[in-house]
Amino acid sequence: MMVGGGKTAVGSGDGDGDGCGDGNGASLELFTTGTKTVVTAIEWAMAEFLKNKEIMSKVREELSRELNANSIMKSDLSKFTYFNACIKETLRLHPVVPVLIPRRALEACEVMNYKIPENAQVWVNVWAISHDPKVWEDPYTFKPERFLGSNIDFTGHDFEFIPFGGGAGGCAPVYPVVLRVCKPC
Ligand code: HEM
Repeated sequence: MMVGGGKTAVGSGDGDGDGCGDGNGASLELFTTGTKTVVTAIEWAMAEFLKNKEIMSKVREELSRELNANSIMKSDLSKFTYFNACIKETLRLHPVVPVLIPRRALEACEVMNYKIPENAQVWVNVWAISHDPKVWEDPYTFKPERFLGSNIDFTGHDFEFIPFGGGAGGCAPVYPVVLRVCKPC
């Protein structure tokens, strides 16, 4: 059950200035966590484009149709509907963080007929959720089209698609950064 916040190194400052568990440690954590995840996502997207030439052509076509200037402005992002769908599909098929930060149940509860005792550690398997054949048709195939005209978003409210987690401990601090690349619908 996604209750309570998993404590991570981020924000757990000890104030001794050794760069470990204080402000410097937090900055380092933010930097390393942030760069590795983004780079991995880009690599997966590029791998899928190389494997699926037709999809890559559609992305190219959309970019050259919608881009009028040499530089991309934030306001341009909403025009790249197909490209956005490709990013979402990449994060669905290859979730960069396949298991969320563990949570602890603050109180006993029941989720989908499973009894969760108080204090139990709960792990959320993002990979299994985003490959669930009950939710996703043909779950192992890269099909950006499934996100076209769909309201499913990555902001942590659509539980079938949570590549950035959700609630306390979710990747909320990064939303402004991620939104520069991928716009929610
Ligand atoms: C494609 C890029 C990224 C993905 C897929 C991603 C995914 C995630 C996920 C799944 C979590 C755990 C959420 C949970 O357990 O509910 C997380 C946490 C976090 N992410 Fe990201 N992330 C990305 C980029 C970034 C970037 C660029 C930064 C920093 C600039 C960042 C900073 C953080 C921090 C600080 C947390 C921990 C939040 C906390 O414990 O309160 N992430 N991210």
